[in-house]
Amino acid sequence: MTLLLVDGLSKSYGAVTALSAVNLAVESGQFVTLLGPSGSGKTTLLMAIAGFTAPTSGRVYLDGRDITRLDPEERDFGLVFQGYALFPHLSVSDNIAFSLRVRKWPKQRTARRVEEMLALVSLETVAHSKPRELSGGQQQRVAIARALAFGPRVLLLDEPLSALDRMLRQAMQRELARLHRKTGVTFVYVTHDQEEAIAMSDHIVVLNHGRIVESGSPRQLYRSPGTRFVARFLGENNLLSGRVRAADGSVVEALGTRFRVAAAGKPRWIAGEAVTVWVRPEDVRMGSPAADEIGFQATVVESSFVGASERIILQTVTGEQLTAVRRPDDALPAAAGQVLQCRISASAIGIVPGAGSDAES
Ligand SMILES: Nc1ncnc2c1ncn2[C@@H]1O[C@H](COP(=O)(O)OP(=O)(O)OP(=O)(O)O)[C@@H](O)[C@H]1O
Ligand SMILES: [Mg+2]
Repeated sequence: MTLLLVDGLSKSYGAVTALSAVNLAVESGQFVTLLGPSGSGKTTLLMAIAGFTAPTSGRVYLDGRDITRLDPEERDFGLVFQGYALFPHLSVSDNIAFSLRVRKWPKQRTARRVEEMLALVSLETVAHSKPRELSGGQQQRVAIARALAFGPRVLLLDEPLSALDRMLRQAMQRELARLHRKTGVTFVYVTHDQEEAIAMSDHIVVLNHGRIVESGSPRQLYRSPGTRFVARFLGENNLLSGRVRAADGSVVEALGTRFRVAAAGKPRWIAGEAVTVWVRPEDVRMGSPAADEIGFQATVVESSFVGASERIILQTVTGEQLTAVRRPDDALPAAAGQVLQCRISASAIGIVPGAGSDAES
């Protein structure tokens, strides 16, 4: 069931178009991530949903009710921001209780709710501490508990983990996913970090230049991107120049060879059309191709050991480079200058509209 609906939302600041006719439907209970590079309009969209930014045009609905003109307080959304500081002079408990006191909850009910929230984010032992006595991760957990305390329908989060180091960020990602499952609250999460988006979301909405480029589950967007932008932005990928050789997109020329592909993408291509062919580094394998694989030769440009795997940069006969990732025990290390026989499963190759290789974008 659609809980939150954004309909044709646009926002301009003078000559700058921050959002352009954005449509978005968030299902109840979903974890939806707005993902895009810096300046793509993520914060503007979240602020328009929250009621802090008035859209130039378009509407926002919650449960079918038009909330476009409501003040932020009247929308009852929970908010967590990177810089949404805790009240420094209040204890952890009082920070969490704040939104309940504003809403005039009775004393006993407030106390009970604060206990529940402390337990939810495992901060019972620091209930009486001041924010400055806590670590960054603990402070962010207080901010989340505070935002969830009054029982919002939707929790809006804008890059809440970006100030934390990598280890803590990953731990907090798991924590947020757990809180989402446990509370059943709908989360709308903003990040520019595609790994974070893939790890946590039910649904990812990719924004660029104030427009929605594509949306879908992490798996859909990773396995079958429909645009060059998403093929490039989500997960590591090799983009190569290619040409469609059959109008149904089933025959493609790239890597100096012609082959059949499984994922044809859009309904109709023009034979001879220049396209982008993509293949993930983990799908570029070494050795002679089997029947359902594409074989090609490539020269090793460099190879480096990166812990769990070895990264090899290869140059194809077309002069393009592509990255392969393999386990170090797959075979002997590849040395620069060596010519390798490579193979890619036909089902691991995709095509998206638009010409060009990695080097050109
Ligand atoms: N108050 C404002 N006045 C003028 N321009 C603004 C304002 N707020 C945002 N913009 C512009 O709107 C565009 C979108 O900005 P927004 O902050 O939504 O991007 P973002 O995706 O959140 O980026 P980041 O990842 O850097 O936070 C940018 O070009 C930005 O400069
Ligand atoms: Mg932002």
